[in-house]
Order: sequence, then C-alpha cells, then structure tokens
Amino acid sequence: MDASRTTPIAVLLSGRGSNFVALAEAIARGAVPARIALVVSNVANAPGLERARELGFATALVPHRDHATREAHEARVLDALAAAGAEWICLAGYMRLLSHAFVARYRERILNIHPSLLPAFPGLHPQRQALAAGVRVSGCTVHLVDEGLDSGPIVVQRAVPVADDDDEASLAARILAEEHRAYPEALCRLLSEPWRIEGRRLRFGS
Ligand code: GRF
Repeated sequence: MDASRTTPIAVLLSGRGSNFVALAEAIARGAVPARIALVVSNVANAPGLERARELGFATALVPHRDHATREAHEARVLDALAAAGAEWICLAGYMRLLSHAFVARYRERILNIHPSLLPAFPGLHPQRQALAAGVRVSGCTVHLVDEGLDSGPIVVQRAVPVADDDDEASLAARILAEEHRAYPEALCRLLSEPWRIEGRRLRFGS
C-alpha cells in the first residue's frame, strides 16, 4: 500500500457525530492517511451533519423517508458516494441497515463502530445489554461490515471496566472516549498496513 496517498472516505451518520469529529481530527493531525470526501446523513437535523457543514466538509442529506424503498434510498446514497469518489465508508452512528447489494458494492471497504465488545451485545442499546448481563468489562469494536448485524471481521477492540454504580449513560460515556481512539486507529491500520481476512478473522501482516 502507498502510505503517501490519502484515501477518500465517506462518513455516514444519523446523529450526534462525535465519532465523525474524532475521525476528522485524527485525519487533520496526520494520524490517518485519509481525507473525508463526503459526509452523508439520512437525518436532516442530525447534529453531526451540522458539524460537518461548519467544518467545511462536503455533505449530502439523503432522507430515507423521501424514498419508497430501502433500495431507492441506497441508490441515492450510492450516487452521492460515487460522485464524491469515496473508496471507503465509515459508519458513525448511521441508524440504517445496509442491503446486501450495498455491502457487496463496497465489500471489505465499510467500517462500523459499535459500543460493545462484539460478538457480545449486537444491535440496539448495547450498553444497556451489558449492564443487564452483569459483565465487568465492556468496550467498543470497530469491524468491517458484512451482511449480518454487527457481525463482520473485527479490526480493533478497546475494553473499559464496568463500575458497580454505572448506569447506561456513565458506561456509554466511558466507552465513547475509547471509541474516539479506536476508530481512527482501525482506519489508519487498514489503510496503511497489509491485511487479509481468514475465516472470520482479520489479520494484519503480509
Ligand atoms: C456510538 O456509540 C457508536 O458506537 C454507535 O452509535 C454511537 C454514535 O455516536 N454506533 P456519535 O454519533 O458518533 O457521537
């Protein structure tokens, strides 16, 4: 891989956008060989979309409610990604399931971040699930996206302790701080190191 090249990426978000900002900051300080070519949101008033505009990034608002089918919505998103020349996609709180066709279009080029140590607690409210299960350690996972729910090959995980007096908000905040480190680290490694998929396992090195 050519480390001197910056890979054009798109960030897809539906909400707050703190992981997007963490990626943007890491890229700005030269820690990730990428450039954000486009920020896409399906939610008009997503704070992350507003932040992207403030920071001067190209943005695309593609509301899913304007489209009759998932495929029609995704077709618009894919058009925007193609127009921006995005080669990788970082899902950052993007609250839409991707179709198999979408995943196939960017196979092994879509990353997601999830606030649990996958494969534990996929899906909604993972911090609530972790507290209900009584685990002593949770964390976050950056993984490649496949056709399943939060199920693709794991790139980076970071663990945090669960405190006896944690509630969902306090655990989420502790995990989020690690997310902001894990996402840039995962993207950087994938863009700058050789890696391969063996079974369910992502292995760095040639
Ligand atoms: C994060 O906890 C992320 O792991 C999950 O959704 C949340 C998005 O937060 N997928 P933000 O919008 O990046 O602040």
